[in-house]
Amino acid sequence: MTDKNIIAGAPTEEPARQQYFMEQVKKLVEAESAKKGRPLTCFINTFGCQMNARDSEKLLGILKEAGYEEGTDENSDFVLYNTCTVRENANLKVYGRLGYLSGVKRKNPDMMIALCGCMMQEPEVVAKIKKSYRHVDLIFGTHNIFKLAELLYERFMEKKMVVDVWEGTNEIVEELPIERKYPFKSGVNIMFGCNNFCSYCIVPYVRGRERSREPEDIIKEIEGLVADGVVEVMLLGQNVNSYGKNLEQPITFAELLRRVEKIEGLERIRFMTSHPKDLSDELIETMKNSKKICSHLHLPLQSGSSEILKRMNRKYSKEQYLALVEKLRAAMPDISLTTDIIVGFPGETEEDFEETMDVVRKVRYDSAFTFIYSKRTGTPAAAMPNQVPEDVVKNRFDRLLREVQDIAAEVVKRHEGTVQKVLVEEIDTHEAGFVTGRLSNNTVVHFAGDASLIGKIVDVSLDEAKGFYYMGSLVK
Ligand code: SAH
Ligand code: SF4
Ligand code: F3S
Repeated sequence: MTDKNIIAGAPTEEPARQQYFMEQVKKLVEAESAKKGRPLTCFINTFGCQMNARDSEKLLGILKEAGYEEGTDENSDFVLYNTCTVRENANLKVYGRLGYLSGVKRKNPDMMIALCGCMMQEPEVVAKIKKSYRHVDLIFGTHNIFKLAELLYERFMEKKMVVDVWEGTNEIVEELPIERKYPFKSGVNIMFGCNNFCSYCIVPYVRGRERSREPEDIIKEIEGLVADGVVEVMLLGQNVNSYGKNLEQPITFAELLRRVEKIEGLERIRFMTSHPKDLSDELIETMKNSKKICSHLHLPLQSGSSEILKRMNRKYSKEQYLALVEKLRAAMPDISLTTDIIVGFPGETEEDFEETMDVVRKVRYDSAFTFIYSKRTGTPAAAMPNQVPEDVVKNRFDRLLREVQDIAAEVVKRHEGTVQKVLVEEIDTHEAGFVTGRLSNNTVVHFAGDASLIGKIVDVSLDEAKGFYYMGSLVK
């Protein structure tokens, strides 16, 4: 550190320490901006899942508090990539963008490039960037995003690449500024990390061990959001069904939901992701009796073959999964089910794949994310024999996708001709004079309307199902 005195003057407690650094950076940003005669801009490119999207809102909140204005693209003074490493192609995209950024930086040498997120938790990635992407200014990980202002200050002072990646943490720093993407809906972290170690998955290694937030903190955050105009929350965790088990005063996820339900002014509650192995009868009962929990459950299957599921370390069998679906449908006949499926896990035979197709045909999902298995170094599956040849995987993937889409088109159609509550989200990007919204079950509907409807829950007649979405009309 060049200026140890100033750092020494910083508070040691969080979040006061970060407040202090946001003020320090703001002075530097203002000085730069006076020199350039224009505001300094920042731009965050987010890869990966809802957790990363929520983290990016926190990062943008810090940057704005530190004096940056939000830019529209990578021609900005501070560019941050919040990365994902769940599959190889998420990784490759980031390297591609970094190559492009070196050209941008040549034109604007004062710009700063920062990388954070899951990829940065992998030592070989950081080593590669240090060696081959010297134009990067700042690298940090998933455990210390709250430290952005401090790290940025360090970079301003040091004038060389700053790297700070933590292996893990028990710390949950609350109450830093957040800049939400939507005024009317928001993600809310209820837990961080994952303890499940599915054998193909890198998330537990890059997000660390499971940590639940205190229910009081979650409720307080949601109350604040509602006071600020939010009507829909998405409770986020890698496995929300194990929420609260390790708190000093344990509480179940269902109990948390019942407390969230009581928040006045909140209209809709969603959550992600629900691991089938931990889905309790208490949760089904709570969902069934709730007026606010949406009529949708994302229930990742991964594979329909009990043998593959065992090797995936998913801790349920095909039969158990199907029994769970039956129980859910008995309690909530109209619930929409969606899922994630991996094709081409090591050793997957044609028979195993047919088991997956069988589950798809039996459950009849409203939609499904289908993925080609991607080998992640360091996970148990990467070392398994019999990796499936690419052409075989591709063929299975195409067959699965077709089946999923055909079924989804039929299933989604079931509400055609009915009137449903829709939360209006944005102006339609395809058709002028139209807006886009979502049903409780998460299906998208487009209908004639204007910006004044955004954030409102309105009645919409679902006139025509078009595959995975509807064209509708506003019921006045
Ligand atoms: N915690 C969530 C999933 C997070 S990752 C859950 O358990 O459901 C999102 C999805 O990415 C997973 O459900 C899985 O289908 C997919 N995925 C994870 N690792 C993968 C890999 N190595 N190759 C292909 N898909 C993978
Ligand atoms: Fe990955 Fe499994 Fe954890 Fe989901 S539950 S994040 S798939 S290890
Ligand atoms: Fe990707 Fe990290 Fe999410 S690896 S899927 S961004 S938890």
